Amino acid sequence: MSGRLTRRQLLRAGGVTALGLGAAAGLPPLMNRLLPGGEPGRLLRSALPLPARYTAELPVPAVLEPVRSDAGADYYEITARRATARLLPGHDTEVWGYQGTFPGPTVESRSGRRTVITHRSELPRPTAVHLHGGHTPHDSDGYPLDLVGTAHHDMAGMGDMPGMEGMEGATVLAQRAYTYPMAQRAATLWYHDHTMGFTGPQVYRGLAGFHLVRDEEETALGLPRGPRELPLMIADRSFAADGSFAYPELPGGAPGVRDAYMNGVLGDVMLVNGAPWPLARVDRAWYRLRLLNASNARRLRLALDPQPSGGGALVQIGSDGGLLERPLRHDRVDLAPAERCDVLVDFSRYPAGTRVRLLNRLGDGSIGEVMAFEVGSAAGDGFRLPEKLSTVERLDPAKAVNTRTFVFQKGKQHWTINGEEYRPGRSLAAPRLGQIEVWRFVTDFHHPVHLHLDPFQVLGRAGGGPGANDAGWKDTVDVLPAQGVEVAVRFTDYAGRFLLHCHNLEHEDMAMMAEFTTTE
Ligand code: C2O
Ligand code: CU
Repeated sequence: MSGRLTRRQLLRAGGVTALGLGAAAGLPPLMNRLLPGGEPGRLLRSALPLPARYTAELPVPAVLEPVRSDAGADYYEITARRATARLLPGHDTEVWGYQGTFPGPTVESRSGRRTVITHRSELPRPTAVHLHGGHTPHDSDGYPLDLVGTAHHDMAGMGDMPGMEGMEGATVLAQRAYTYPMAQRAATLWYHDHTMGFTGPQVYRGLAGFHLVRDEEETALGLPRGPRELPLMIADRSFAADGSFAYPELPGGAPGVRDAYMNGVLGDVMLVNGAPWPLARVDRAWYRLRLLNASNARRLRLALDPQPSGGGALVQIGSDGGLLERPLRHDRVDLAPAERCDVLVDFSRYPAGTRVRLLNRLGDGSIGEVMAFEVGSAAGDGFRLPEKLSTVERLDPAKAVNTRTFVFQKGKQHWTINGEEYRPGRSLAAPRLGQIEVWRFVTDFHHPVHLHLDPFQVLGRAGGGPGANDAGWKDTVDVLPAQGVEVAVRFTDYAGRFLLHCHNLEHEDMAMMAEFTTTE
């Protein structure tokens, strides 16, 4: 579409209107389906009484051990399977989990050291595994038709379903070895299901886990480690009366969701690492919280309550793509689905005995609270917050060889990018490896836009510069209604087909995905 607007025009006119989409895109009905807090989606209420808050202890997913290591690589094995979990008191919930757990086990990689993960699946449906934030060649990137499953997964007939025509070309293997070169800096990544048409229900049932990359630069900072480093996977879910996950699927195993939930599925139970509104006991010391929003559609605005005197309690040290140049102090952090924010919190700023809640300021009632920290009396860690964390190379938009615009909007039945519903093999762009490009994401709604292969830098949002949570290397950016976001991106190393898509999983499943092809 319009690749010829200048940056100024786009920003001044607020993107959508500049492209004349306001009327054509049916703006009013879509906007009406934004909930009061400005979240897209529809609340699916649980059919059981919600559990009490702050009684469950915060679980921390186990770190997976390699099955073997050699000079150049560490090898892991993960099997996705159904298992029964005690997420809510008094109820059993069937999860679809990596190793049968939700979240899956945490994988830890060393930057520059190859990680090979062999995935198998015993699930009723096949799965594709994507390492979100991974700098990964195409064949290990979890392309939505590169499936893992069992022999009884017959894909014939799948392609007859609307929007699933491409499924005819899918290959289901009994196991896949995903090879991650890990030529990337330390960062909080996560792995999750990426199956064509079924990512929403499959992630909802539990197919998500952390994958942490560490490197020397980060280690040298002496950041809080061990029990003082907490990966926090925040995800809203709803439950049926029998304790199972409720998800508004279509009958007959068809992909997508019921019409009413097309804007996104919102739950009323907030889970952190799989536990509802958990409690963590902390010392009066610095903690590192690796925040991840693993919700299908819910946006979060996280804040501590009470704020310590002087504010700025959430000290951001990293974003999707690793360390920032220097720490940024926030009173609140916005996280759209799939975004990560790496923050330090100094609990010694609170008197012993304080209960500090982590709130979601975009939610009402149950969903306005996330978890709590109980500040104990043990103190001291000698940690000093460094002034400088890292060096972040700036992608200079003046050096961009190309500017491309991607319009995210509702189509006749599904969601579209540049007017197209996702079709495997159809590429919307062919960026050259090593060259800087400016990509513009424009929408009339809320879409967390995600690029595979390489992170980007946010240059600006309609009307101004980057937002408060846009700093550093990002791989997912929250594009807001009637806003354009401009990013600078440079793809490197791997030629092939990669994805760009909305990370609202209901939008993604309903075709808001596209491919780009990187070339030498
Ligand atoms: Cu987290 Cu293509 O996804
Ligand atoms: Cu979307």
